Amino acid sequence: MTDSSATFGFRDVDAAEKPGLVRGVFDRVASRYDLMNDVMSVGVHRLWKDMAAARLNPQPGERIIDCAGGTGDIAERLAKLARAAKMRRGGPDAEILIVDYNAEMVAEGRKRGLSREIAWSVGDAQALPLPDACADAYVISFGIRNVTDINKALAEARRVLKPGGRFFCLEFSQPPSHVLRSLYDAYSFKVIPAMGQAVAGDRDSYQYLVESIRRFPDQQTFADMITAAGFRRAGYTNLSAGVAALHHGWAL
Ligand SMILES: C[S@@+](CC[C@H](N)C(=O)[O-])C[C@H]1O[C@@H](n2cnc3c(N)ncnc32)[C@H](O)[C@@H]1O
Repeated sequence: MTDSSATFGFRDVDAAEKPGLVRGVFDRVASRYDLMNDVMSVGVHRLWKDMAAARLNPQPGERIIDCAGGTGDIAERLAKLARAAKMRRGGPDAEILIVDYNAEMVAEGRKRGLSREIAWSVGDAQALPLPDACADAYVISFGIRNVTDINKALAEARRVLKPGGRFFCLEFSQPPSHVLRSLYDAYSFKVIPAMGQAVAGDRDSYQYLVESIRRFPDQQTFADMITAAGFRRAGYTNLSAGVAALHHGWAL
């Protein structure tokens, strides 16, 4: 890879080409995105997302960015938790701002008729349409892997967080166990693209998904990138034996 190249699954492409390729993937899968998540993960992605939202622990009156928020899975969980906290302690509504690159994903999410706390916008994780130090928390769930320049997205997350702000990233990762990794590889490469074809009529997009997971940095490498972006006390929790990981950091 050179400075002007980026990964797109197992391919190295010109960095300028990647956003269009990624947009194409999510334009194609948007209408079947939620269903495919349930089928591929046998519903386990819901538990991972529950945990991510609970760890972020949204509070009344907080402004929270759900970057690459897609159809709103994380935002909806955050809204429910913030509302429950408001019932207990009082205070204003939380404000949860979804920023996603793909208008198709946002449109699909809006059809769900989500909570009043949620606002939607189309924008790029690498150049957030937001001022400095405006948010109490930032979460990106299964999004950062698709971004052309991950370091730029991390720097943007750091920029928009207030001092003391919380950063969370839920992403597929690398199971440390060799045995599990080979089973997971077999499932990923043999089953998921075929499932993509059967359920969403799109093998290529799901081939991209599994390839992009393999190329994403392992847990510690990604934690080091979070630190390098200016966050403190970066760390992670493995989920489902490292199939996914929840990374965190503090804007201190
Ligand atoms: C796999 S979906 C994840 C959606 C949601 N966060 C979830 O956990 O279900 C990835 C999302 O990342 C968005 N995305 C990709 N590149 C992006 C970028 N540069 N900036 C913002 N969003 C981006 C896509 O449009 C897509 O909605």
